[in-house]
Amino acid sequence: MQRRKMIAGNWKMNGLLEDGVMLAQNFANLVKSNGKPQCEFVLCPPATLLFSIKKVVRGKHIAVGAQDVHFAEKGAHTGDISAPMLKNLGCTYVIVGHSERRADHGETDEIVCKKAAAAHNAGLKTIICIGETLAEREAGQAVEVCRQQIAASVPADSIALNTVIAYEPIWAIGTGKIPTPEDVKAVHAAVRSALEKKMGCAEAGKVRILYGGSVKPSNAGELLNLENVDGALVGGASLNAQDFFDIACNGGCY
Ligand code: PGA
Repeated sequence: MQRRKMIAGNWKMNGLLEDGVMLAQNFANLVKSNGKPQCEFVLCPPATLLFSIKKVVRGKHIAVGAQDVHFAEKGAHTGDISAPMLKNLGCTYVIVGHSERRADHGETDEIVCKKAAAAHNAGLKTIICIGETLAEREAGQAVEVCRQQIAASVPADSIALNTVIAYEPIWAIGTGKIPTPEDVKAVHAAVRSALEKKMGCAEAGKVRILYGGSVKPSNAGELLNLENVDGALVGGASLNAQDFFDIACNGGCY
């Protein structure tokens, strides 16, 4: 099964207007000077920058995604942003269930699932994040934890066209540590089979499963060529246009 790789940059809570626009512009210039990529690029800036970044990258083979969404369509939810609002701004994607949101905002699998369903309903595609803690990894529970998160976080209406999964071991995020190739392969294979249970083999075979956690230009070649690894969700290294671009190049996107 040929799946188009995705390289997504999660800027997290970084970037004021001027530097965010500059970062997107620098990255768009790199993409432009290297011709049409084989992979799909997605930039996920903070909500405050979505509209401006969309204007910068329009028509340049770069999609824009948000980092979170509320599950309600509208109403009394001060400070929150709905899926139709993100769609209206020009977003194609939204990340849901990132471990930082699960930890900082108490987001459960059930909430993540509702958010993803709301996003799909509004015509957005989701990047649904899962991943084990260090304690779970050390207890040998990583595969089972991820299997359960897929079962509970991925909504019933998910299909390959609207859903991307990101496996991000929590202990690998921002730490410079990465799992062994065997460990990555084992979780990605388990995620694929959990998706098969949910949506059938043919559909699950088309879903992209990204790896995330300390992806850098130096390790992208190895990580992105593993079986069932269909791209990367990149945090820190996506804040540098050249590094983010090099991850795609080393990962086989050109
Ligand atoms: P990192 O973050 O690349 O900085 O480890 C990845 C993520 O949290 O999506």
